[in-house]
Amino acid sequence: FLVDKGNHRHFMLKEIYEQPEVVARTTAHYLDMANGKVRLPADLPFDWAKLPRISIAACGTAYLAGLTAKYWFERFARIQVDIDIASEFRYRETPMVPGGLMIVVSQSGETADTLASLRYAKENGQHVLAVVNVPTSTIARESHIVMPTLGGPEIGVASTKAFTCQLAVLASLAIAAGKGRGFIDEADEDRLVRAMMEAPRYINEALKLEGHIAQIAKSLSKAPNVLYLGRGTSYPIALEGALKLKELSYIHAEGYAAGELKHGPIALVDEAMPVVVIAPYDRIYEKTVSNMQEVAARGGQIILVTDEKGAEHAGIDSIATIVLPDLPSTITPLVYAVPVQLIAYHTAVEMGTDVDQPRNLAKSVTVE
Ligand code: G6P
Repeated sequence: FLVDKGNHRHFMLKEIYEQPEVVARTTAHYLDMANGKVRLPADLPFDWAKLPRISIAACGTAYLAGLTAKYWFERFARIQVDIDIASEFRYRETPMVPGGLMIVVSQSGETADTLASLRYAKENGQHVLAVVNVPTSTIARESHIVMPTLGGPEIGVASTKAFTCQLAVLASLAIAAGKGRGFIDEADEDRLVRAMMEAPRYINEALKLEGHIAQIAKSLSKAPNVLYLGRGTSYPIALEGALKLKELSYIHAEGYAAGELKHGPIALVDEAMPVVVIAPYDRIYEKTVSNMQEVAARGGQIILVTDEKGAEHAGIDSIATIVLPDLPSTITPLVYAVPVQLIAYHTAVEMGTDVDQPRNLAKSVTVE
């Protein structure tokens, strides 16, 4: 496989720009776009309606895709989901109801802790489904069901296109689960599939904001700390934003559920603290805005990532607003992932760090 950077300065930037194409490829694989239906993996060894529970284990960015999926599975399929960091899951000796579904998410398919979690789940009578980018990997080989992310080889250590492809697979699976459990009817399925089909186009729109984001990154690169806030499916995106920023730029960053602000992080907020608020105009937008007001009242420097309606209703002075188009709420994580990737990328470029090979990090962690 010949892999080069093309016209891009870094593999990471190239991979960020590949997202419309690879997400389109992945969604086309799992969704029957012409008929507005999810294409299930053939011959699932379980019945969605009888499934007692879903468990998810993964590491790093893959874990954050899993955390996003928890919101989708619970909402679309009304099924309880346990999600855990694989290094915790593998040693916790958690009881598992036999016949449950274990989902492992991994770009490389070789992450040691994720593999150990898979083996534990198998020993404990779970159906194991892998969402992996490398179909020949150990995790793919040892799983009962494999749903590949069709992202192509990912070279940048910080995962980008693998993440959005994982989200595309997991959203498709959650719609299938909702259908299988009778909480999604054909009209809902059609609507959700059509929303998913739009994701590549919106990702493309998000990429057009790169120049504006590069400007914002100039001020971020001077900050010693950055806080990211979000609620619902924007909470994992806040975590992903903070993870990416610290990995690439070495700036201390933390992601928080916006509602947790007053339980700790607000103590850190002063005029020197940039706070990136991920707030699409969804059913919990108002709640996030009220957290944002608490930040503003303490002089925190707000960088608001929202959509057109959200920008209109924010009623607050932010130092910067990144405005995405209004889009269906189901796909917001797939699209909002892009600005947080670009913020981290450009802050790192501004600081002159090694974007594709950040210090102390490895692409694939095959040892504990
Ligand atoms: C490393 C990489 C991350 C990745 C994580 C999990 O930390 O730097 O980008 O998210 O491993 O890897 P996996 O291959 O299991 O997705």
